[in-house]
Amino acid sequence: MKTLAARVESLRRSEIRVLFDAADDQPDAIRLEVGEPSFTTPAHIIDAAAAAAREGHTGYGPNGGLESLRHLLSDKIFRVNGFSAEPTNIVVTPGAMNALFSIYMALLEPGDEVLLPTPGFPNMDEMVRLFGGLPVFYELDPNSDFIPDVDEIDRLCGAKTKAVFINTPSNPTGAVFPPAVVRSIVDVTREHGVWLISDEVYDEMILDPAAAHASAASFPGSDHVVSVFSFSKIYAMTGWRVGYAAAPAHFADRLRVLQEPEVSCPSTISQKAAEAALSGPRAPIEEMIDAYRRRRALALDVASSEGLTVVPPAGALYMMVSISEAPSSSLDFALHLLETQGVSVAPGSVFGPAGEGWVRISLAADDELLVEGLRRLAKTLRAQTVVAT
Ligand SMILES: Cc1ncc(COP(=O)(O)O)c(C=O)c1O
Repeated sequence: MKTLAARVESLRRSEIRVLFDAADDQPDAIRLEVGEPSFTTPAHIIDAAAAAAREGHTGYGPNGGLESLRHLLSDKIFRVNGFSAEPTNIVVTPGAMNALFSIYMALLEPGDEVLLPTPGFPNMDEMVRLFGGLPVFYELDPNSDFIPDVDEIDRLCGAKTKAVFINTPSNPTGAVFPPAVVRSIVDVTREHGVWLISDEVYDEMILDPAAAHASAASFPGSDHVVSVFSFSKIYAMTGWRVGYAAAPAHFADRLRVLQEPEVSCPSTISQKAAEAALSGPRAPIEEMIDAYRRRRALALDVASSEGLTVVPPAGALYMMVSISEAPSSSLDFALHLLETQGVSVAPGSVFGPAGEGWVRISLAADDELLVEGLRRLAKTLRAQTVVAT
């Protein structure tokens, strides 16, 4: 029998899946490792999708997404992200994951380097490797609230660098990069002649009133920026699989052409749901964001009263909790916490080399479970610290 492709054989299974599987075996576990909203999709979006299906929107659509949706997205990008993207600059994809996949496929030749953050979104390094690229990590320092050091990005950009990936608001850190930092990254990447991939799937999830999201493409001289957005998190639509990229005209055109052999087109019904999300009432969306804000405040209170070291998140859905005092690795700590306390968290090791010493909790859990989960985490950490000293 012929073997499978080496690039696929060498794919590693994410450690977060180890946690998922172990937590699935414990039906009463408090699930703080999840990376998706606790809410179901707002009813008006579901209703619009059902109506669209009944009206016959059940066939294939254009490779790059429905024109009607791309017009609405052009408005959204102008209103929320502060830059102009014509419908032809926008490509709708089955989730942001697919947008990122196509972007790397479009960019990478074997041996090309991509700068990735650590702690950072775990799927990126595997994706880069899948296309023969080499991830090069830039570290996000908790003492700087996980905001990147632009000088480090500047230093790491070399002859082999093809692209720099940034993600703000950030998974897993919750950092929201100040506009001046985003602007400097736009400038540095332009000077080096590399692409800037800006993952903004949490763009409207700002939890700290003092923070504001800045889109890389809103700054002058940003025609090397490709931006990635999603309906998954903001509208609690993870399962509908609708994301989109906004890119310079030629890049967008190539991404659209790539859709044909890759996925043909995004789901038509899901795109109709996305149209309803954009044109429907904002109140259900604001209610969800208010709930995340309340849970953030609650989580910070419990962390402080339990003596946990955390970096207060400014956006997204997550909070990093330090376990640097624990004698074990973050994976062992997470497995031990699940086994002994029934609390599931994401081990920091999942988020690249700088993730060790941390675990990520999700603010998607219900208030009481969040509080109880953090208390048990603190208890476990205290017990381990006492044993170790
Ligand atoms: C930073 C980041 N980018 C992209 C994605 C993928 O989103 P989607 O559900 O649209 O594929 C996620 C999902 O967790 C994410 O956290």
